[in-house]
Amino acid sequence: MKAMKKAFKVLGIIVLLVVVLGFTGATIITSRGIPSYEIEKIDYQVVSTPESIQRGKKLAIMLCANCHKNSETRALTGTKMHDAPPEFGEIYSPNITNDKKFGIGNWTDGELLYLLRTGIKKDGQYAPPYMPKLPKMADEDINALISFLRSDDPLVVADASPDQPSEPSILTKILCNVAWKPFPMPTEAIEMPDINNKLALGKYLAHNLECFSCHSADFKTNDFMNPELSKGYFAGGNKPLNLEGQIILTSNLTPDPETGIGNWSEEDFINTVKYGFKKGEHALQYPMNPYTGLSDEEVSAIFAYLKTIPPIVNKVERSLYE
Ligand code: HEC
Ligand code: HEC
Repeated sequence: MKAMKKAFKVLGIIVLLVVVLGFTGATIITSRGIPSYEIEKIDYQVVSTPESIQRGKKLAIMLCANCHKNSETRALTGTKMHDAPPEFGEIYSPNITNDKKFGIGNWTDGELLYLLRTGIKKDGQYAPPYMPKLPKMADEDINALISFLRSDDPLVVADASPDQPSEPSILTKILCNVAWKPFPMPTEAIEMPDINNKLALGKYLAHNLECFSCHSADFKTNDFMNPELSKGYFAGGNKPLNLEGQIILTSNLTPDPETGIGNWSEEDFINTVKYGFKKGEHALQYPMNPYTGLSDEEVSAIFAYLKTIPPIVNKVERSLYE
């Protein structure tokens, strides 16, 4: 009896401690908010040519417009992100046109580069994972993106539409303090893949156009520094949301013949990726937007690369709603 009483007492104290510690931790994190980091001054000046701006626009349409484009202004003035998981809070993407007050007009090229690589903004604050980073993209492509952002293209020409502040949840704040961290600034040059090496080009695109990020098991277990180490690499089953907040499971793109794309023809793959066609089936749905900007050669390279990765048996039923 006595021993049991004692055990209960000890247990009670432990529970109390856990509650108090948890509460204090949560209070500290909530008041601390999303952490800030030391900003490294980056000595970098974008090199703009008509070609780099054109390449940058193509990349931005595939990688940035989806979140930053506003349907009313038709420019990258920011919008509410209906597909951000609600547990992260109420999230708005900011204005990234060249406006000096609300956009990025007074960011330096180095500050933009630093954010896109590491996730640390001009003011030092960390941008949570609902703003993707590009830690492995070739220097030339990052330069192209920044030269496009700096251009007078209608998507990014200065537009003074004000930003809507996001309201990140306590969960987002906690994760930003304990789990999500900035990526390191690359210390060596990152070269473009050799475009005559089809597999190298396909791998580069499959990683840097974020195909792996949606098509592996879960955003939480993705390894952005070493995409191939992501759990369920390209085997699908990840759960991005559509604009109604419904889960749209991602497909298995490994070469498994039954549950992946092992039996697909190259032609079918190209039609699906570029135009969203699926033979005899409902067209592909958001967030799998058609990649009309990719050339047939680029999609063919992605297909060739995907044929070389380890097949994983994982049957994913399509998410179809009324
Ligand atoms: C999945 C949605 C999403 C995509 C894709 C995305 N962004 Fe963002 N971006 C955001 C959100 C949300 C924020 C705000 C982050 C925060 O609150 O710290 C942001 C912040 C930024 C900022 C900081 C602006 C400021 O005023 O603080 C820049 C610059 C930026 N994004 C550029 C880009 C570029 C360039 C791309 C494409 C390579 C891109 N973003 C892709 C959602 C996205
Ligand atoms: C934002 C997340 C996201 C990104 C990024 C993404 N996909 Fe998808 N993809 C999906 C979803 C979700 C589906 C399933 C759509 C449906 O069922 O209607 C899908 C379906 C597909 C399919 C159809 C497969 C099948 O079995 O039906 C192919 C092929 C595909 N994606 C290739 C790609 C390629 C190649 C890339 C990169 C260039 C890519 N995806 C990037 C989310 C994404």
